[in-house]
Amino acid sequence: MSDKKKILIIQPIHKAGIDLIKNNTNYDYEIIENIDNKDIKKKILECDGLSIRTANLSSELINISKKLKIISRHGVGYDNIDLKSSKEKNITLAITATANAVAVAEHVMFMLLNISKRKNMYDEAVKTGNFSNRNKLPKTIELWKKNILIAGFGRIGQSLIRRCKGFEMNVFVYDPFVSKDIIEELGGKKVEDLTEAVKSMDAISLHMPLNEKTKNIINYDLLKTMRKNCIIINAARGGMINENDLDKALNESLIFGAGLDVFETEPPKEDNPLLKNNKVFLSPHTAAFTEECMIRMGKETIQNIIDFFEKKLDKSKIIKL
Ligand SMILES: NC(=O)c1ccc[n+]([C@@H]2O[C@H](COP(=O)([O-])OP(=O)(O)OC[C@H]3O[C@@H](n4cnc5c(N)ncnc54)[C@H](O)[C@@H]3O)[C@@H](O)[C@H]2O)c1
Repeated sequence: MSDKKKILIIQPIHKAGIDLIKNNTNYDYEIIENIDNKDIKKKILECDGLSIRTANLSSELINISKKLKIISRHGVGYDNIDLKSSKEKNITLAITATANAVAVAEHVMFMLLNISKRKNMYDEAVKTGNFSNRNKLPKTIELWKKNILIAGFGRIGQSLIRRCKGFEMNVFVYDPFVSKDIIEELGGKKVEDLTEAVKSMDAISLHMPLNEKTKNIINYDLLKTMRKNCIIINAARGGMINENDLDKALNESLIFGAGLDVFETEPPKEDNPLLKNNKVFLSPHTAAFTEECMIRMGKETIQNIIDFFEKKLDKSKIIKL
């Protein structure tokens, strides 16, 4: 019997990741493109390790596996994995911790700039022959010397602050678990009270995990207290901003605009009012989809599996269950 480890790659990843395992005689691999439970159920039974993107890895699936030792998330969020059964089965959960902070931070800047520079409106004016209307269009906004609140100061938050400082923004940070010293070292100012802090912000960007504490953390009551020129960005997880409340606040001009890469339900339901709101700038959960980042994530998700079996997986990539 072959003692090769069987690796399941649930949902295709970049070829650069596959190349790491393709010619490695210690491993056999299989890619599952169809993420129907039926398919995964069949294959998970005998695999030793798996890489997974966004598909749901339920307790049922995890409990079917007989040999599974490592789940390697292609990405850093792991709300699609059942943690309880992973823990019970003593399975290691790894993430591509070094791969995607820059891509997401750049995406936030892209959204902030698009919204503040009214990209759609100005672009359309020229393309529709209305160049000479330029004096009549509503003015754009600068980021210079504006206050931004970064809520959640982990990998992505810390990458974002560097970009905000490049634009000479005043950066405030809300993260109860990160010390004042670390925040100040990177040029930010720690705030203790989110409710108070949002009142004086021109931009807010969310970078924390979705959990009981952060669900609906941005709601109508809070939106009401914000500056009218405030722009909110969520490229973390849907559900932290209440979407109906956001739509209402935008329609009532309580804030200037919003950028969302993530949604309460993905894809968003057809009747989601934000889909028709021109004060919101959307992307389909693609903040990390740069060519460079896909290569990094593809490689790291496979390397984490190899490192695990070679007993050299870096602790910083392992999620404590
Ligand atoms: N849009 C995308 O494609 C994309 C890509 C990568 C990550 N993400 C999401 O971005 C978020 C951040 O990722 P990361 O890699 O920076 O994670 P991270 O674990 O490095 O950082 C998260 C930070 O949030 C802080 N935090 C936890 N609870 C908090 C709370 N209640 N209030 C404020 N701060 C809190 C933690 O202390 C930590 O510093 C996650 O939700 C992740 O799933 C989205």
